Amino acid sequence: MFNYLLILLLINIKLIICDETDKCGKNCVEGSKNFYDKENNGFIKQYENARSSYKNETCENCECYLNVIENDLKPFQNGITENMLEACTSNRGVRYQLINEKWYRSKDCMFPSRCEGVEYFLINLKNELPNLDLCINFHDWPQIEKHHKKLIPIFSFSKNSDYYDIMYPAWSFWKGGPAIKLIPNGLGRWDLGRISMEKSAEKWPWFKKVEKGFFRGSRTSHERDTIVLFSRENPDLIDAEYTKNQAWKSDEDTLGFPPSDEISLEDHCKYKYLFNFRGVTASFRFKYLFLCKSLVIHVGNDWNEFFYFALKPWIHYVPLSNQATKNSYRKLITFLRNNDEIAKNITKNGSEFIKNNLKLEDIKCYWKKLLKSYSKLIKFTPKLNKKLILVKNQ
Ligand SMILES: *[C@@H]1O[C@H](CO)[C@@H](O)[C@H](O)[C@H]1NC(C)=O
Ligand SMILES: *[C@@H]1O[C@H](CO)[C@@H](O)[C@H](O)[C@H]1NC(C)=O
Ligand SMILES: *[C@@H]1O[C@H](CO)[C@@H](O)[C@H](O)[C@H]1NC(C)=O
Repeated sequence: MFNYLLILLLINIKLIICDETDKCGKNCVEGSKNFYDKENNGFIKQYENARSSYKNETCENCECYLNVIENDLKPFQNGITENMLEACTSNRGVRYQLINEKWYRSKDCMFPSRCEGVEYFLINLKNELPNLDLCINFHDWPQIEKHHKKLIPIFSFSKNSDYYDIMYPAWSFWKGGPAIKLIPNGLGRWDLGRISMEKSAEKWPWFKKVEKGFFRGSRTSHERDTIVLFSRENPDLIDAEYTKNQAWKSDEDTLGFPPSDEISLEDHCKYKYLFNFRGVTASFRFKYLFLCKSLVIHVGNDWNEFFYFALKPWIHYVPLSNQATKNSYRKLITFLRNNDEIAKNITKNGSEFIKNNLKLEDIKCYWKKLLKSYSKLIKFTPKLNKKLILVKNQ
């Protein structure tokens, strides 16, 4: 009996080792130099391939984002009818019309500060656009799944490839982002956020940053669990903890540990490797992390905002699968620590991209091009719907 157990135990140990050896051949046990060389070569190859195939497009007049507009509007090439917009019911979105340089909208808006965040941009453009009729979704979640039979043009801030929604720049560039303890009025004013992030980045130059991965956020998606569990076992490599959100009831909602304190976006800059995960959909955190001049590790790539497509893996950020195991986290952080110049180069390219190409001006530019392209697809003459009210402050 005892022998039998011993054999089982030995087989198990062998299996664990083989799991690693298979990928890199004989005499290649995790922890040996050989092992890490093989792993590192894989990462280095991805980095080099990315650099050799990357075309440094210009982004004047928000050009580097225009293919997103083209793709999102492609399903509507046969035109947008008034009938399609009748499907803009209050559970789907808020109806907006621009009539003779004045904006109107449905009376009810479930998230008033989100609506305000978007209206700032709409009002800004009111003299530069033809009459319009559109439907804007203010929920986190997109609305028009591709398997639906009915094609409805609905604007949403984030989607994955299963949806026909038309992406627009999120309200939180101006107002109405998530409210946490540190930002009671909600995340907004990207123009001011950019300045304060850059100040913080100056306090934490590359050589002063703590050489650890870092993540703080609530458990909006279970894709975040692995890193939190890994961090509990390897606090020297990654510091990742869950904070409370409104739905928090007990430690179970923070994976069995008490919730951690919130950390301001500025204070993220202390760490060298910053993890970005999806939340319910895309996370508003992503664009801020780049401005720390820390390396952004973007986990999973299903959920996007309009600007994500211009950012390239291994050029502007390091990609990681949302299926990554604890071991993948270990390998990646180990690789980055041992290849500081690569990490630093990617960091520089990423932070410069956001600094140069995602200014508030670029957001206005995207809104304008988006609405102009959309207007060309409208097949009817928008007439003021009597149920709509005048948008305030214009
Ligand atoms: C290439 O990218 C850099 C930023 O990394 C930017 O400053 C430069 O203007 C770009 N060059 C061209 C030709 O677009
Ligand atoms: C990092 O960037 C610098 C400046 O562009 C370049 O000279 C160097 O070769 C890069 N290093 C690596 C490892 O790519
Ligand atoms: C990345 O940054 C370096 C300067 O550090 C620059 O030479 C290079 O063109 C940039 N590459 C990309 C793809 O933006």
